[in-house]
Formats: sequence, structure tokens, C-alpha cells
Amino acid sequence: MTAIREPGAVNDTTYLIDAIHEGISGGYAVYLLKSKTGGTCLIDAGTKDSAPVIYNKLKELSAWPIDRLIITHSHWDHTQGIEFLREKASETGSTIEIMASEKALPFLADQSFNTCFGTDQEPYLNITDVISLKDGDLLDVGRDLSLQILATPGHMEDHISILDLCSGNIFVGDAIGMKWFDNFTVPNPNSPYWNEEDFLKTIDRLKKTNYKSLSLAHFGCLADDQARQFPDESLSTYRQWMEFFAENNERLDDISFLADLMWKRVYTLVPADLKPLLRPGLEGAVELAARTWKGEY
Ligand SMILES: [Fe+2]
Repeated sequence: MTAIREPGAVNDTTYLIDAIHEGISGGYAVYLLKSKTGGTCLIDAGTKDSAPVIYNKLKELSAWPIDRLIITHSHWDHTQGIEFLREKASETGSTIEIMASEKALPFLADQSFNTCFGTDQEPYLNITDVISLKDGDLLDVGRDLSLQILATPGHMEDHISILDLCSGNIFVGDAIGMKWFDNFTVPNPNSPYWNEEDFLKTIDRLKKTNYKSLSLAHFGCLADDQARQFPDESLSTYRQWMEFFAENNERLDDISFLADLMWKRVYTLVPADLKPLLRPGLEGAVELAARTWKGEY
């Protein structure tokens, strides 16, 4: 097993939930941790649009209401489902503990910065009453499930990853890029909060971390060699993209041209029949990364 991109069990205590957004499946994942001794924890909350999908899936998995929700970082596609899930929990008289990095609290309290992503999801809902987490914090979900928090900034300054100390699975959110299919790793320097120096430190840190599998928000769970190699693979693809932008810096507004060239130069191993499916995702990522490269905010 090298990659799981289908909804369902990733290991004995972890489930991949496809947080379908605007009808798109296979793009946004959240993960349910369910201890055999009763505790539950959701990693990320999806969008306003995907929250009902997540809610129904949690009920199907007999995990509703969840005890706790850990947000990897404050970007809209990880946070905007929180309000819906909170409301649904309150209907049952329950409260979900919402947790995020201590650095995320101001960004959660004022989500308006997400306008930099140019989505049609405004207005963004602000999120308060969040419990802050620090690097190194340990959390028990149940007797068979213990988590460690790792600060993994770069993609966003408040980004954390969550290491499941029992299974060796690590939830890295968007910290080190995206991988929607084999041979299709996509870097995500995609906002004014991108910090290359921090990203490089995060890559080094994850390489030194003792994990066995790696769960991505976009999308799926990598195992074995794919998981261990992903930090280097992500860094190498990031460097290719940056060289590519430098070479073509007169045409960074021409997203179609850039995507065409990337198919030919970067993604030579992606099967031709998959390219139409992947094209919108590639173009969206290229557009945001090109704007970040130019510092155009
Ligand atoms: Fe993100």
C-alpha cells in the first residue's frame, strides 16, 4: 500500500472523509480519529459547503457528536465548516472543543484575510472560543490514541501538524504541498503569508520526524516509501516551479501558457487521460503561486 485516496479507514483508528466541496470529490480531505475507548477528534473542518457532507459522514461512522476538532491552519477551506458543526453539536446539547495553534487565534478571529484566495466563499465566518496549542503539546484522544503537536509553518505561519504517536500517521494539512494523484505533487506557496525560510525548516523537521504514513488535506494518505519521500519530492517540485517562474517571468499572467508548459516539463509522468481532470486544480495552484512569486497582493 502506498497511497489511499478513497474515503474509509486509513488505519485502525483513522478514517479519511472526502469533504466534497462544490461537488468536487477527491480534492479536500478531513480525517476522523476514533479511539476504541470512546474519544473522537476531527482534523480540519472543510468549507461551509462541505460541512454538511462531513456531518453526515460522521453520523454514518457513529462518531457524532465529535469531542474535539483540531484545525491545521486558518485557511478558509480548513475552517469555514466549523460554525455548521458547532451549531449541529449544540442542537444535541454538546460542545465541540476547537483547537488550533496559538498563532492561529487572531487569524481565526478575523477570517477576512482569506480574500487573498479570490474564492466565491465570502463572507468568511470568524471563529472564536478556540483552545490554543503549542509546539510539543501532547493530547490523548483515548487510551489507544495519543497525539503530538508539531509547529510546521511556511505555507501559513500558524500551521501545525499532528502526529499520531500510536500508529505513526502524521496529519500535515497543507504544510508541504498537495498530491492529488501519483506523480502529481503540487506546491502551495499561495498567499502573502507564505514564508520560504519556514517552509524549508518544516521540510527538514518532518524528514527527522519518526512517522510511517502521511495524511494530506489535498489529498489522501501516503504510506511506506511514498510517505518518507514526500518531503524531498515536495521540495524538489517547489524548486522546479520557482525556476520555471523565473524563466517565464514575462508571462506569469498567462496561466494557460504556464500550465501547458508544466505538463510538458514538470508532470511528464501524469497519464494523458488524467490531465483534463487535473487541469483546473493545476491552473488554480499556478495562478496563486505566480501571484505569490510576484508579491502581488
Ligand atoms: Fe492552506
